[in-house]
Amino acid sequence: MKTAIVVAIGENGVIGNDGGLPWRLSTDMKRFKAQTMGKPIIMGRKTWESFPRRPLPGRLNIVITRDGNYRAEGARVVGSLGEAIAIAREQAEADGIDEICVIGGGEIYAQALNSADTLHVTHVAAAPRGDTRFPEIDPETWYVAEEESFPAGEKDSHPTRYVVYERHRK
Ligand SMILES: NC(=O)c1ccc[n+]([C@@H]2O[C@H](COP(=O)([O-])OP(=O)(O)OC[C@H]3O[C@@H](n4cnc5c(N)ncnc54)[C@H](OP(=O)(O)O)[C@@H]3O)[C@@H](O)[C@H]2O)c1
Repeated sequence: MKTAIVVAIGENGVIGNDGGLPWRLSTDMKRFKAQTMGKPIIMGRKTWESFPRRPLPGRLNIVITRDGNYRAEGARVVGSLGEAIAIAREQAEADGIDEICVIGGGEIYAQALNSADTLHVTHVAAAPRGDTRFPEIDPETWYVAEEESFPAGEKDSHPTRYVVYERHRK
């Protein structure tokens, strides 16, 4: 069972601003949907609240919060990343799926990076102002397994470069 991080990152490491995304990337949204469909997705409470329509359909949505009274309609609410990963794995195994996805935001990525197997990163050709960042992707730990560039489509604010990073074998 693989744990994948799925994230879009600006050239300056920014991933979010003021509770939302600092760009509009329709092409990337479609890729995100295809990448995560049918798989359990794990997110922090703030990312959950950033979705205009929730839960994301066709996927088990798992929301992490320290608030034991938190309710998230259509999602599983858990108290830690470890618990989220355990539930996601159980569901994926039951569904015959070999990957679970951590989809943000900054706090959850920072905690999940050490145990992730794969990073699906959309590098956005922009350096927007932001209040949330992704940690450095250390080339000592990660290598580029796949890479593809996309020009900005009609509904995209910026061009992107989609990179799959895999962990170096020790
Ligand atoms: N560019 C991208 O690909 C991407 C993807 C996703 C999100 N984002 C952006 O990232 C921003 C949100 O990120 P964020 O870092 O502010 O928030 P976040 O990671 O989405 O959620 C943080 C919340 O998760 C809960 N949490 C974190 N660690 C926990 C732990 N160890 N145990 C239990 N609960 C824990 C806490 O919820 P409680 O406060 O309820 O206890 C915390 O406030 C938004 O701007 C969003 O648009 C960007």
